[in-house]
Amino acid sequence: MYSIDVNNLTKRFGDFTAVDRVSFSVEPGEIFGFLGPNGSGKSTTIRMLCGIIGPTEGRATVAGHDITASPELVKQNIGYMSQKFSLYPELSAEENFTFFSGIYGKTSEEIGELRQKVFGSLGLLGLEGRIAGDLPGGYRQRLALACAISHGPKVLFLDEPTAGVDPAARRSFWSIIQSLAAEGMTIFVTTHYMDEAEYAGRLAFIYNGKIVALDTPEKLKQDYKQKLYQLYGPPPLEMMERISLVKEACQVAPFGNALHISCRPETDVAPRIKALLGDQKYTLEQITPSLEDVFVALIDRPLATPLSDAGRGEGEGSKP
Ligand SMILES: Nc1ncnc2c1ncn2[C@@H]1O[C@H](COP(=O)(O)OP(=O)(O)OP(=O)(O)O)[C@@H](O)[C@H]1O
Ligand SMILES: [Mg+2]
Repeated sequence: MYSIDVNNLTKRFGDFTAVDRVSFSVEPGEIFGFLGPNGSGKSTTIRMLCGIIGPTEGRATVAGHDITASPELVKQNIGYMSQKFSLYPELSAEENFTFFSGIYGKTSEEIGELRQKVFGSLGLLGLEGRIAGDLPGGYRQRLALACAISHGPKVLFLDEPTAGVDPAARRSFWSIIQSLAAEGMTIFVTTHYMDEAEYAGRLAFIYNGKIVALDTPEKLKQDYKQKLYQLYGPPPLEMMERISLVKEACQVAPFGNALHISCRPETDVAPRIKALLGDQKYTLEQITPSLEDVFVALIDRPLATPLSDAGRGEGEGSKP
């Protein structure tokens, strides 16, 4: 049985379709990444799957419960760390944990045992008495995670859990997430960080409310069919404008202080760029795509036909 099973899930706000016939399923213990630009429908999807808002159309079950028929059962069996996770900043770490686990009707003895276990596995032991608002960002975020899993959920939804957290803290947060998954917890996570997306077993890209690709990070990169070049040297923005006029160039995007330029495999954009650059100093090399290149390629193109069965993908490539 799938931990999360989603069929044509749709959410409209008035005339606006925020989530458009989204389908996918997630296995127990899987880390499923949900990527997409701002406003693409990630949080709206999560809110539906957590039983917080009802779908306009479509169906989904989470931890075996139907989100429309039994949203309360869904809520009892999931953990949810929202995009702006909310601890009580003036309460201590322990008081926050007690408050959130208390919602689920546990006794104070049970809560104490749970706290030992959860604080232990999340590296929070010794911080029980610290005021949440005074904790460093990485620890506040771990405490929010502790509160979200205080009742031992089978499925955990994390909506941009590492936004604004430093790289070292993000890395240790992810090793915690991986060990939770290894113990059988299903993780559904959104992120804007491509290095984090690599931790996911599978990734879905959502764009304008539609899933436009779904596969393992490796397969998504393999499926990138374009020839890709990296250009260092000339001022990127000025070059971007000039290169975008080259007919062989499919796409030009800034990557730090470099440019990534793609073209169809049967053409070659390199001679044209060399001609443009004349005797300027530069380096131009063909590179293999990163997830970020895949992402840029997916969201920059005009939307092709929706992938009605993208989410069903059992490993097969699904691109528009
Ligand atoms: N309650 C609402 N009423 C009207 N429109 C809404 C509502 N909630 C979300 N939207 C719209 O739905 C779209 C999707 O929003 P959503 O929050 O799901 O995006 P997101 O992918 O989570 O973006 P971000 O990366 O910025 O968090 C946006 O255009 C948003 O403005
Ligand atoms: Mg969001």
